[in-house]
Amino acid sequence: MATDSPLTFYDDGLTGVDVSALCGKLIVIEGPDGVGRSTQISMLRTWLEHQGHAVMDTGMARSALVGKTIKQAKQGNTLGPLTLNLFYATDIADRLENEILPALRAGFVVLTDRYFFSSIARAVARGSDPVWIRAVFGFALRPHAIFYLRCEVQDLLPRVVYARGGFDYWESGMDVRMGKDLYESFVRYQNRVIRALDAMAPRYHFEIIDATRAPEKVFADLKRRIGKLLAGKKKKAGGKARRKPAALEAAAPAVVEEPVVAAVEA
Ligand SMILES: Nc1ncnc2c1ncn2[C@@H]1O[C@H](COP(=O)(O)OP(=O)(O)OP(=O)(O)O)[C@@H](O)[C@H]1O
Ligand SMILES: [Mg+2]
Repeated sequence: MATDSPLTFYDDGLTGVDVSALCGKLIVIEGPDGVGRSTQISMLRTWLEHQGHAVMDTGMARSALVGKTIKQAKQGNTLGPLTLNLFYATDIADRLENEILPALRAGFVVLTDRYFFSSIARAVARGSDPVWIRAVFGFALRPHAIFYLRCEVQDLLPRVVYARGGFDYWESGMDVRMGKDLYESFVRYQNRVIRALDAMAPRYHFEIIDATRAPEKVFADLKRRIGKLLAGKKKKAGGKARRKPAALEAAAPAVVEEPVVAAVEA
């Protein structure tokens, strides 16, 4: 749910940080791998700058402290799920302290390409305890708005294949071997990630954006919502949660999905 109220932390937060002077806006674009986050952030940045806003964009694994280390660790074969989760927590803590908070103090619109929600979804997809992983990220700031670009795995497949020519080892969950090959593992793993994000939507007040539409339609939707947020328009109190668009109830992909017990609680 978009809000123009002052920022707070989810839990105890970063110690010694005064959030009362944060006059910028923290906006999260979430969604599974290849859904179109970079495409939207690039258009949003240009649009916001034309409107006269100072914009900072940041994203997962881009921290100066551990961004490169995460990429290096992913090249090797000793990185386990627990360490991966803690690496991502460090990445967000470092970006919060050194990039996001200073930008918010200076009044920037901060667009973040994923926040910790993808980390939770990935952790749950790999079998971590949702209660534990949620607590890990209790230090994080609550954003003003979280836009979840949502689609099904079958919509992701052409985007991932055409954009990159194939499937990435980690984006396919091959570290936990979810299928006999990259394709099967990608479908199963991304399905789990999407279910975990869906399960988190009410708890974290995601605004669900139908990302099966053309990029310009998705952009128009985001512009309308962000425009309202920046104009300080509040949502109607007691508004009902958006129903999932019918198109998103579409048929499951060809690979048979296994039950995801943990995702229900994500
Ligand atoms: N709404 C859309 N419909 C169809 N194709 C799209 C849409 N949005 C983006 N694409 C295409 O999908 C591919 C992936 O888009 P993009 O790089 O923006 O996704 P991403 O979510 O940032 O991916 P990554 O997880 O790799 O960072 C690109 O080829 C892009 O042109
Ligand atoms: Mg991207």
